[in-house]
Amino acid sequence: MTITAVILAAGQGTRMRSATPKVLHSLLGHPMASYAIESARQVSGAKPVLVIGHAQDEVRQVLGEAVEYVVQEPQLGTGHAVMQAKSKLEGKSKLVLVTYADMPLISTESLNKLVGAQRSHIGPLTMLTVIAQNPRGFGRVVRDEQGNVKEVVEEAQATPKQLEINELNSGVYCFDADWLWQALDEIQLSSKGEYYLTDLVGIATSHDLSVQALVSEDCDEVIGINTRVHLAEAAAILRKRINESWMLSGVTLIDPASTFIESSVTIGQDTVIWPNTYLQGDTNVGQGCVIGPNTIINNSQVGNHCKVLFSILEKAVVEDNVDIGPFGHLRKGAHLAEGVHMGNFGEVKNSYLGPGTKMGHFSYIGDTTTGTDVNIGAGTITCNFDGKNKNHTDIGAGAFIGSDTMLVAPVEIGAGARTGAGAVVTKRVPPNTLAVGMPARSIKKLEKSD
Ligand code: UD1
Ligand code: MG
Repeated sequence: MTITAVILAAGQGTRMRSATPKVLHSLLGHPMASYAIESARQVSGAKPVLVIGHAQDEVRQVLGEAVEYVVQEPQLGTGHAVMQAKSKLEGKSKLVLVTYADMPLISTESLNKLVGAQRSHIGPLTMLTVIAQNPRGFGRVVRDEQGNVKEVVEEAQATPKQLEINELNSGVYCFDADWLWQALDEIQLSSKGEYYLTDLVGIATSHDLSVQALVSEDCDEVIGINTRVHLAEAAAILRKRINESWMLSGVTLIDPASTFIESSVTIGQDTVIWPNTYLQGDTNVGQGCVIGPNTIINNSQVGNHCKVLFSILEKAVVEDNVDIGPFGHLRKGAHLAEGVHMGNFGEVKNSYLGPGTKMGHFSYIGDTTTGTDVNIGAGTITCNFDGKNKNHTDIGAGAFIGSDTMLVAPVEIGAGARTGAGAVVTKRVPPNTLAVGMPARSIKKLEKSD
């Protein structure tokens, strides 16, 4: 039975007090809307339809091809928003799932349960409700004497007695599609000048059709974000969920409260993460690593048994058994092969450090390729930028770069060569040769050492 998901995102979000559209505000590194889109996509197995209106160009630009768009202009309420999808979707699927882009924490499991419940229900809709002491301005679910759902009343229209009801409308529904597209025409304009989607509950029961409520056990799931306070609350819940799931799959978090792992990240078993660590974007960390404290790893791949201490990695690749830090900075295109050691205050950009290479202290390596087992002495700098171009440095296997060497690129250091402390290398040093001075001169051929 086919399902289409319709996600409402046309509202203005005035209470965010922001130039950024509400649904694009970042929630743990991703636009808020992307969470609702992903869970709806998983349930329906297809691109959801996103109803947009306010700041639609920006929304399209950020969310791109992840959804199909329908425009609601002007925005006359949640019922009106769903009406806009009718011409696109009528006759296309058996069921329609409706969720909100500003409700990011709703889980795929709950949506699946909702769809499952509607599949075996004879009535035209199943709604997700929640029992909560704090009503947060949600609509109240009114039931009759037999306990059957009768209608939903919005807080503004509720009587004092109805305001006491603690079963709330989450705003997430699964509809029989044929019924939905017809019944939408029956919604009347409210006193506030809006078409309320919630009216469909009363419309169904007034035709003696049964409305089923699936009561969620998790109030957190249906947190709708209207303000930045709600955004922070949602971020804390999401973070806790992600952290707990990694701990249960074998990752140690020394202090989960100060550990920030985005939903797109993966971490191998027996890795230990120290406080104030941020794992962001397309980042994968292997097994048995020790990461942090005070580390940011962004869009990077880290192998097994690595140590990263007080460091920042951006768009970098780190193979197994590498140790970095304290205070290392890997920038875009840094690739550290197996067993590399990169100590205090090092920076590597767009470079490959071959297996076993050691770079202990205070060095900048940019646009460089090294062979295996190179030693880069303290304070070595690749002078890679001549004011116009970025130039390449090549360092052969087993080379030993003396402390404070300036490698003025483009330049090549042959395999097994050495540079003296403070050398300023402006031209090629042949293999197994010692070069010293400023500019460095090759002074002797080196004896082969074993
Ligand atoms: C709605 C429900 C309420 C429920 C609550 C749960 C209605 C009338 N009320 O109220 O019963 O408890 O959600 O959060 O449905 N939107 C549009 N176009 C519009 C208006 C809204 O796309 O014209 C979108 C908004 O961007 C938002 C969502 O629909 O994502 C909900 O709208 P909102 O105005 O926040 O409804 P609530 O007052 O929260
Ligand atoms: Mg709302």
